[in-house]
Amino acid sequence: MNEQGLAQIPLSGFAAQHLLDVESLSRTDIEAILDRAEFYEKLLTARQPVEKVLEGKIVLTLFFEPSTRTRISFEMAAKRLGADVVNWDFERSSMAGKGESLKDTIRTLDAVQPDALVIRHSEQGAAFLAAEHASLSRAPVINAGDGIRAHPTQALLDALAMRQAKGPLEDLTVAIVGDISHSRVARSNIALLAKMGATIRLIGPRSLMPTSFPGAKVEIYHDLGQGLPGADIVMCLRIQRERMAVGELPEESEYHRRFGMTRAWMDVAGSGALVMHPGPMNRGIEIAEDLPDDPDRSLILEQVRLGVPVRMAVLDLLLGGRGRV
Ligand code: CP
Repeated sequence: MNEQGLAQIPLSGFAAQHLLDVESLSRTDIEAILDRAEFYEKLLTARQPVEKVLEGKIVLTLFFEPSTRTRISFEMAAKRLGADVVNWDFERSSMAGKGESLKDTIRTLDAVQPDALVIRHSEQGAAFLAAEHASLSRAPVINAGDGIRAHPTQALLDALAMRQAKGPLEDLTVAIVGDISHSRVARSNIALLAKMGATIRLIGPRSLMPTSFPGAKVEIYHDLGQGLPGADIVMCLRIQRERMAVGELPEESEYHRRFGMTRAWMDVAGSGALVMHPGPMNRGIEIAEDLPDDPDRSLILEQVRLGVPVRMAVLDLLLGGRGRV
């Protein structure tokens, strides 16, 4: 599809100024983002020049939690499109030591008029609070992960990786394995896959499985042998130790024995099944040491690679492409 074709995709629902969660995107919005990401991916792969549609814009990133993939790929994406990036640094900010609140920090940063705010925070709802208080600049707020609630750009890049490797999402059976309760990646993937009509299986211990999934039809399993057969994609999740109470922590070797993904378990899923992981991984716990590096089985580095074009698409549609419908 050429740029002209992409420019004609309607952005229904994107009239909302921000990208805070997957739930507020329509199926058409999701397809528009994935199509535009694929357009950028082709340019990047061919090392062709990218139109600097965000030239003169400034993207402000606020990472209250550590990040490698999300932070770097947002910065790369913004720069590929010609924007400048300013990284707010918690340790050197007036929140550290001087007690400035999150709300006042957002209002202060809003007052210096960025063109977009990308925020990651350990508290769910932080991105919504940022959107509420970024009223002066009217900058789009993009949620780069808030607590256990949402990580919409991760779900979008996962969707593109699945679509490219396995075809239309509505035809896929996706098994999400592990610590579902504490995973914003799982929540956003479930919301996206449900909108796109995929079959969703959740596999994990009862102690790490929520009891309800509003708006999504899911199959729940507590045993890999029952949940894996026939899955096209096996998405492993990290044990979110930082979000657990001490009593909740599973014993690592027992967890690996019951829910750790191995080549043998991938064979149970099927000969064409592919493994995914949002990262960072704990090799030897939720995934075997050797599985992530198996090029016939693993989409993990592909997920990372697609993070840049997906975030380019999101930035373009929110900041630059809004008028191009
Ligand atoms: N998947 C993900 O969000 O990774 P980072 O924490 O490294 O950004």
